[in-house]
Amino acid sequence: MSEPVPGDVRRPRVVLGVGGGIAAYKVASLLRLFTESGHDVRVVPTRSALQFVGAPTWEALSGQPVATDVWSDVHEVPHVRLGQGADLVVVAPATADLLAKAAHGLADDLLTNTLLTARCPVVLAPAMHTEMWEHAATQANVETLRSRGVLVVEPAAGRLTGSDTGKGRLPEPDQLFAVCQDVLDAHDQDLAGRHVVVSAGGTREFLDPVRYLGNLIQGDLGTSFSTRRPVATDIAERLPATLELVIAAMIIGTALGLCLGLLSARFRSSVFDSLARIFALIGSSLPIFWSGLILLYLLSVRIALVPGTGRLPPRVQPPPTHTGFYTIDALIAGDISLFWQALAHLALPAFVLGWAVTGIITRLVRSSLIEGLGQDYARTARAKGAPERVVLIGHALPNAMIPLLTILGFTFAYLITGAVLTEAIFSWPGIGSYAVRAAASLDYPAIGGVTIVGSVAFLLANLLTDIAYAWANPRIKVH
Ligand SMILES: Cc1cc2nc3c(=O)[nH]c(=O)nc-3n(C[C@H](O)[C@H](O)[C@H](O)COP(=O)(O)O)c2cc1C
Repeated sequence: MSEPVPGDVRRPRVVLGVGGGIAAYKVASLLRLFTESGHDVRVVPTRSALQFVGAPTWEALSGQPVATDVWSDVHEVPHVRLGQGADLVVVAPATADLLAKAAHGLADDLLTNTLLTARCPVVLAPAMHTEMWEHAATQANVETLRSRGVLVVEPAAGRLTGSDTGKGRLPEPDQLFAVCQDVLDAHDQDLAGRHVVVSAGGTREFLDPVRYLGNLIQGDLGTSFSTRRPVATDIAERLPATLELVIAAMIIGTALGLCLGLLSARFRSSVFDSLARIFALIGSSLPIFWSGLILLYLLSVRIALVPGTGRLPPRVQPPPTHTGFYTIDALIAGDISLFWQALAHLALPAFVLGWAVTGIITRLVRSSLIEGLGQDYARTARAKGAPERVVLIGHALPNAMIPLLTILGFTFAYLITGAVLTEAIFSWPGIGSYAVRAAASLDYPAIGGVTIVGSVAFLLANLLTDIAYAWANPRIKVH
């Protein structure tokens, strides 16, 4: 690779237009900053600008001749060439008069001609009295120019001409220079002669723990790299979908687990007990990505018993949002057919997720009931003539609910974070599929946000479990 020759890189060509405002004197410093950093600057003052700072100043500082009208050096057609050849045109101070001319395409001197012929970025730095700046005509001109892609720098507030203060000051030369340099850098597509380091390594950023925690406490989880929206907003939009799925899975898992546990305890060591054990075992041991895909293939693709993926059929509009749960929102909207559609879409993913927790609930209910059936209170009930069904449901079951409550709390939190695979398989637009996408694209703020929501869910579930525990078991109440 040949070494770049120093000075080989073309100097950026800047046309520095100067308007007839009191701040013209500041532009001499801006010119200096440009020339000292190697820019090739042509100063184009308006006739009024020369009343404030004369041509000799501009010529001496830029090292270039200065022209104001289109009649000098006509053989070089400067009224066209200057704009065509520039990398950047910057006008400071841009007077109210110049803004109006630029907005309406007037071309009665060299600067306004240059503005019309320039195809490079244009930066205008207005400076004028507050009344002139705030006037509807000036604001409309600024609006027009911005809509055409011109960068109109916002004037600063402070001391103006005379004793007045307010908005309308020309920003300081170093600030203007930084703006121009940013524009030039952003527009510079020419990498010739530059050394470029391409790295495939990870990016490590300094994390300010105090600021991070401070933002977190205020609910600011940062901005997602991929959606470019606040992570909190993304999660808030997706959380109802996950909650609807998890609650449905909890209902299915708990109902199935309770029924199987009850019947297994009642018909202990029977064929039913063995079958229930196998069913529960399969649910807990099969990974969701396998059971989900197999059931999706069999029940949706092969026999079309239930719909496949998503929360609603394609092209069906969701109900107006009240809770974010499509089933409940459809009922609130009085749309029964939409309710059934949402429920049908919910059935399979909720069953797959619920099946995974059925096993533990079945085993727990069964063993607690069997233990309860051997207790003194069960024996007493039997001695008093209570049928076995009443002993089981009326006496043993309430006692079995206490350990079950603990498991249900943890299961709920586990399902919120564990819904990732189910959501990915069933294209369920909840925080699980958001987490998968965030992990695949290394979207750190989104990954962090989902992790925090999962942790909070665990803590809340723990707290609610403790409260429910005290309610269900009066012996552990704190007085
Ligand atoms: C002392 C003095 C200061 C002025 N300052 C400003 C100014 O800061 N901004 C502005 O828009 N006009 C200002 N003006 C008015 C302009 O000089 C006038 O509108 C002129 O026509 C602008 O011409 P140009 O835009 O071609 O440079 C000032 C006039 C005087 C006499």
